[in-house]
Amino acid sequence: MALLWYLRGAKTHIYKKKMETVLSGIRPTGNLHLGNYYGAVTSFIKLQDLYRCFFFIADWHSLTTHPTPENIQNSVRTILAEYLACGLDPEKATIYVQSDVPEVVELYLYLNMNAYLGELERVTSFKEKARKQPDNVNAGLLTYPTLMASDIIIHKANKVPVGKDQEQNMEMARKFARRFNQMYGVEFFPEPASFSLAKEGGIKIPGLDGSGKMGKSEGNCIYLCDEPSVIRKKVMKAVTDAGPQAMNSEKPEVIKNLFTLLEVVSSKDTYNYFNDKWNDCTLRYGDLKKQLAEDIVAATDPIRERIKEFSSNTALLDKIALAGAEKARESASKTLREVRQIIGFRVY
Ligand code: TRP
Repeated sequence: MALLWYLRGAKTHIYKKKMETVLSGIRPTGNLHLGNYYGAVTSFIKLQDLYRCFFFIADWHSLTTHPTPENIQNSVRTILAEYLACGLDPEKATIYVQSDVPEVVELYLYLNMNAYLGELERVTSFKEKARKQPDNVNAGLLTYPTLMASDIIIHKANKVPVGKDQEQNMEMARKFARRFNQMYGVEFFPEPASFSLAKEGGIKIPGLDGSGKMGKSEGNCIYLCDEPSVIRKKVMKAVTDAGPQAMNSEKPEVIKNLFTLLEVVSSKDTYNYFNDKWNDCTLRYGDLKKQLAEDIVAATDPIRERIKEFSSNTALLDKIALAGAEKARESASKTLREVRQIIGFRVY
């Protein structure tokens, strides 16, 4: 019995060998596409076995650009269902909705007291969004980085898996954590490091229009929830060129993109088969696309099925969100109690 207990303890130890905390936030806008899946979600799935993990849906952040959401509960449930369908596991990670954890806002307020107009105005994404929505340059948009910092340090997260586009926000988060420590003369918040998704096995998935990355705003996405017929249609429409012109020539970008996708969803044999055909100039793009479409359909089939199951079970989704919120609030309120103590507020 004792041995069993020991083994179990030891296993958890090996299992989550680094008890560092990993956290990432996801904006509830739209559906997950192949780029999200192979670029980020697959890494999250691996990380949840190795670290103390928090993954949350950043619904407050979405108000900075969409102040009057149509149906925020639906958007949140959609993204939650899709993440669960991909394999995020509430038993392994704390999965929650940002707006279910009010402690985040109180910390946001404290951080805002020590965040300065000049530095917030210099953030590139603020400037971009301000340009895009000149009639709605709101304070939430300006303080997006302080809210994000609060999200992260409320759980004293050490590592944050995010894309390159979040680097400046991450720098701000480190700065705010450092500043808090200095301001109050404590070694309280760890400085959160970005966790390169590429190094964690994340892959940059190209779009099918030859324009580079697959992205929602580019309108070139294959969504995990797309029906097979839709996937086939999208793949068959992928941009190509006149075909290979010389033996063993380098592939132009649009063709390289198709091969990158093949590499991700198809078998090595399939990849080699088409690669050889490219090299000896016998490749017919139509054949490649047909195969690629079938392999994408096969790779996403089980996820698509689970998305349907989760989406149709609102009660289950809400139960999972509620349980996640409880766990997240436990961690957040512990930090917040200490923060209140450090600053000098009453602690209950
Ligand atoms: N800003 C992130 C994005 O646009 C979302 C986000 C909000 C986030 N809070 C976070 C990411 C905390 C990581 C950690 O994708």
